Amino acid sequence: MHDPQAFAGRHVFVAGGSSGINLGIAQAFARAGAHVTVMSRSPDKVQQAADGLRALGAQALGISADVRDAAAVEAALHQSHEKFGDIDVLVSGAAGNFLAPAKDLSPNGFKTVIDIDLNGTFHVLRLAYPMLRKPGASVINISAPQGVNPTMYQVHACAAKAGIDMMTRVLAMEWGEAGVRVNAIAPGPIADTEGIRRLAPTPEAMAAATAVVPLQRMGTLDDIANMALFLSSPLASFVTGAVIPVDGGSSLPGGRDMRASYVPRSAA
Ligand code: COA
Ligand code: NAP
Repeated sequence: MHDPQAFAGRHVFVAGGSSGINLGIAQAFARAGAHVTVMSRSPDKVQQAADGLRALGAQALGISADVRDAAAVEAALHQSHEKFGDIDVLVSGAAGNFLAPAKDLSPNGFKTVIDIDLNGTFHVLRLAYPMLRKPGASVINISAPQGVNPTMYQVHACAAKAGIDMMTRVLAMEWGEAGVRVNAIAPGPIADTEGIRRLAPTPEAMAAATAVVPLQRMGTLDDIANMALFLSSPLASFVTGAVIPVDGGSSLPGGRDMRASYVPRSAA
């Protein structure tokens, strides 16, 4: 795992890779010797991200495309495939989110998040399939705890990420015989990201979000990137269809923090 060139010459394509968690993943693969393409809407963001990857010594492409636009996604994949060959690692992490009570969320607000997260992930995976290395490719969807934990003001993200989790499992079954593994990472709250800024916008909300993590800290970009490296390495060659929480334990099923209620027997 600590081979600094473990992914030398491999082709890594990161949809939504121009910032935050997904850029952290792109950078980790760049440091490990991969050729990396990042794709997102903003031409400035993708160029800046690609420049940063080159500064790490990688060959890199930045391509502007919206995951909601299937033709644009296909063109981006073709451009990357022409330059770097078959795709060894495909990461689908483009997403949009905000807090909104369902009764105040417009149909288009709900549709927008479903279109980016869920339909966008289908576009990326389905259109990349002919260009994936077979056997050997590792596909990683970026999910979230909302895929399994009902979360208030998140009906859009919960529905989208639950769909991504199921897509991960179905495509793992369909693509297994071609030697393509499909997994998902469900990050917990990750420090210094747009996602956490939107869901915990005040110091109080940030403290509350940290307090419910059994490991008592927010995650880092490296925490998530390390799981992506592991999932794409030979160490994970028998892992497919898994949705893996990387969240400090914050989404343990049914987990409830009873510290405030507990009175030590000796003090009762
Ligand atoms: N609360 C409720 N509804 C909202 C909203 C909010 N905070 N933000 C946007 N919407 C609604 C809009 O009102 C619109 O619906 P309407 O036409 O009925 O008014 C719909 O969502 C689409 O908004 P628009 O701004 O046109 O979408 P966009 O395609 O330009 O941007 C978003 C997509 C809304 C998801 C935007 O927040 C985004 O680009 N996010 C990317 C970054 C991000 O979310 N990072 C965290 C990842 S977890
Ligand atoms: P971020 O920095 O906003 O990352 C989102 C990325 O997706 C950006 O590069 C953005 O770039 C791109 N994107 C958004 N809409 C797009 C579209 N329509 N087409 C193509 N690209 C698009 O946020 P983040 O917090 O790091 O989140 C990254 C991923 O982690 C998301 O899947 C999110 O759900 C997941 N996650 C985050 C957390 C957290 O704590 N942050 C927790 C759990 C899960 P452009 O603006 O240029 O398009």
